[in-house]
Formats: sequence, C-alpha cells, structure tokens
Amino acid sequence: MEQPRLYMAPIKGFTDHTYRNTFAEHFGGFDLAVSPFIASKRDNKIKKKYVKDVLPENNTGLPVVPQILSKTGKDFITLANYLYDLGYGIVNWNLGCPYPMVAKKKRGSGMLPHTDMIQGFLDNVIPGIKGTLSIKIRLGWHSKDDIFRLIPILNQYPLEELIIHPRTGIQRYDGEVDLEAFGQIVSMINIPLVYSGDIRTFEDFKKLSRRFDSVSRWMIGRGCLANPFLPFAIKTGGEEIQGRIRKIKHFHEALFEKYSILLDGPSHVLNKMKGHWCYISSPFTDCKKTVKKIKKTRRPDQYLELVNLFFETEAKWPYTEGTAFK
Ligand SMILES: Cc1cc2nc3c(=O)[nH]c(=O)nc-3n(C[C@H](O)[C@H](O)[C@H](O)COP(=O)(O)O)c2cc1C
Repeated sequence: MEQPRLYMAPIKGFTDHTYRNTFAEHFGGFDLAVSPFIASKRDNKIKKKYVKDVLPENNTGLPVVPQILSKTGKDFITLANYLYDLGYGIVNWNLGCPYPMVAKKKRGSGMLPHTDMIQGFLDNVIPGIKGTLSIKIRLGWHSKDDIFRLIPILNQYPLEELIIHPRTGIQRYDGEVDLEAFGQIVSMINIPLVYSGDIRTFEDFKKLSRRFDSVSRWMIGRGCLANPFLPFAIKTGGEEIQGRIRKIKHFHEALFEKYSILLDGPSHVLNKMKGHWCYISSPFTDCKKTVKKIKKTRRPDQYLELVNLFFETEAKWPYTEGTAFK
C-alpha cells in the first residue's frame, strides 16, 4: 500500500504557525499543513501583518499550503499571487467554513448551493493565479446535493487536489460524517482527494484507509490537538510511544513559552492556552475538576501551577484514546 500522506488540518485559533512549528519539533508525522484561512481583502495592497501566519520565515517546521476565504475572484487572485511571490506554488480555497457570519455572505460552505458562482469564480481565478489551486470543501450547505451538482464542473478544471470534510455546513461539527457520500465522490471525481473528518485514533485511520483504498491523503485536525502522537502512530503502523505524558508536558511548556513571547500580555497568552485544554484534556478521564480550575485561572503563575499538578497527578490516570470532541 502507498505510504499515506498526512496533512495537519487548518483549525482557526489553534493550528497557527506557532503551533505548527512547535508540533513539528516535538512529534512529527505530518507531511504538510494547510493554514487556517486568511480572508481576502478588497485592498490591492497586502500588509505583511495580515499574512504573518504564512510568511515563510515563520514556517520553518512544516511545508504549508496557505488557505484563502473569498467569494471574489479579483481579490482572491491578488492575495494568491502575493503568496506565490512569497514562494507558495499552491493555495487552497475555503469552501467549507460553516459559520453563519461567513456562510450568509455566500462564502465558505455558504457558497456551495451557488454552482454558477463557483464556476464563474474558477473561470476567473484559475487563469489569473500564477500557481495552482486546491479546494477544501464540505458536501453542501443544506444538503449533499450541492457537491453532486458540482463534481462534473470541478472535474473540468486542473485542480491540485480536493480536500473533503463530508458533513454539510448546517451540520457544523455535529452528527456523523457521511462516508457513503464520500465513497460516491471517490468514484466520480478525477482530482486527487484528501479525506478530512473525525480521525481520532489509529483504528479510525485503519478503517477509513481500508474502506477507501484508493485514497492516500488524509487530514487530521482535532484528533491531533487531542492526541498529538496520532500522525506518528499512523506513519509507523502503530509503534508504541514511551513517556507520552512527559512529552505532552514539554510540548505544552514550549507552546506557552512561545505564545508568551509572541502575544501581547498574559491574558492573551492564557486565553490561547486555555482554548487548547478542551482538546488536551479530552483523552484523560476524571480530570474535569482540575481542567475547570485551569480554565478559571487569571495569572500565569496560577495557571502553570495547576497545569503542573495536572501533568504530575491526573494525567497519570488511564489514557482513553479517541474520546468524542466537545
Ligand atoms: C475550531 C475549528 C476551526 C476550523 N478552522 C478551519 C479553517 O480555518 N479552514 C478550514 O478549511 N477548516 C477549518 N476547520 C475544519 C477542519 O479543518 C476539519 O476539516 C474538521 O475539523 C474535521 O476534521 P477533524 O475531525 O480531523 O478535526 C475548523 C474546525 C474547527 C473545529
């Protein structure tokens, strides 16, 4: 079987360049990352601050494909070509974002019912960008009818790849991924496919890769935030990992240190780190009380004290892989 190619998913607010680099230093297993989206702007001049997350000098750990959220071809082209000049030969178009603020403006998955708009966008953008285009997409906004209407159209363009999260926009992250629909797409599409959704354990990966044996590209998001050993486990066929808690603790300390340097003031650092606890804590049982206390801390010293307590005591409790995400 072909060696799987593993992609770190874009998770806005989590998988920024600090996370991506630190992850690569501590765990490994990913071949590349797609960045969380950058929204295109009307302004023709792009400020460096705006694309800071994908500046090559900030991305030394993993190869990156920058992602753009846009419904306007002209603005997309401006940003894509700016990124090309920075060295990015491929950019990714976000057709998956489910958040109402985005979708109601016909962006992200809110654009999926509008087949003509998508076709017009591609007609304009593909000849206009210096590099190539990949797309990250859901099955549809309200229903999977959207993607089945789009497939014959997408098949006509020289797309780099199609990353599919097989849920609809209105589902957000609830309910099941629709694997039957994904299977149908596999048989209809002539663009390289990447599967994205709910890979939490090595077992999940094995089941999916057996079922879709022509797919060799897999994207992992929340599963790696919760269990950062997962990509390595997949790459090595489930090799036993020693000293997991110690390694997660070191990773956490490195993230904390880097955000302390980068972010403006302790409250921003604490907010950033607290966000991660929804995922970090999810594989551990019986730790709700400490995690609640961690989330309530207001000072870095309090926070670090409780986090230490967690790793020294609670985290020794049974480790249950693959707990459902909240
Ligand atoms: C908080 C959050 C933020 C996300 N941000 C993005 C984003 O910026 N761009 C994108 O294409 N997908 C985004 N996603 C979707 C993920 O990339 C991924 O497709 C989805 O979470 C399913 O995969 P997973 O179960 O492996 O996480 C986001 C998901 C979550 C939960």
